[in-house]
Amino acid sequence: MESPQDKYIREHSSKPNEALDWLQKQTNILTNYPRMLSGAVQGEFLKLMVEISGAANILEIGCFTGYSAICLASGLKEGGHVDTLEINDELEALCLEAWTRAGLQDKIQLHIGNALDYMERFAQEGRQYDLVYIDANKREYPLYLKAVKSLIHSGSIILADDVMLGGKPEELPSRPDKQTAGLLEFNSAVVSDPELEVVMLPLRDGLSLIKKL
Ligand SMILES: C[S@@+](CC[C@H](N)C(=O)[O-])C[C@H]1O[C@@H](n2cnc3c(N)ncnc32)[C@H](O)[C@@H]1O
Repeated sequence: MESPQDKYIREHSSKPNEALDWLQKQTNILTNYPRMLSGAVQGEFLKLMVEISGAANILEIGCFTGYSAICLASGLKEGGHVDTLEINDELEALCLEAWTRAGLQDKIQLHIGNALDYMERFAQEGRQYDLVYIDANKREYPLYLKAVKSLIHSGSIILADDVMLGGKPEELPSRPDKQTAGLLEFNSAVVSDPELEVVMLPLRDGLSLIKKL
């Protein structure tokens, strides 16, 4: 259920386009966990971040049905590109149809497989990204951070989703589950890293905006 606060925020943020509305409906019909999709407000935030930063090369870790990839790619200037990583090959057809509907099929490349393997390969190839969106397995966030650090340059931005521990950091159990433990380790590693600057925003379940100095 959408809270009154979330409703107010959504109603006073720019609206998603037709392709995004279509994809949200399809995701609700066809997938077991439609809540994983970033949604209208966060999607608009991602698009604006790309526009404001001027990022041209973007990496997304955790594509799901391709909603946030559309938002990221919508903010790109001519010649920009999104590489998005997804372990579940059953989502490919829906992603490709959505990106075609959005007219962004040439700007987004889906890489099916384990994100950590791809990032190792991309680092060996010397790829560099201006903006990285982390939104996959919370247990693996500390590993993503290590891998991402060899794929970014000074001034690159990292956006990390779901960092606010289910929205209740004050109610942490004494023995947190592996997802929560992964997020705790990630948040500590980011804030104590002298090469990174970070602000945690209370958007949905928390979104950290991180810059490499
Ligand atoms: C929260 S969803 C991503 C939502 C998407 N960014 C959006 O906003 O629409 C997380 C996705 O990460 C994928 N995933 C989890 N672990 C992964 C891994 N090690 N490598 C690649 N993808 C992974 C899951 O299959 C899932 O589709």
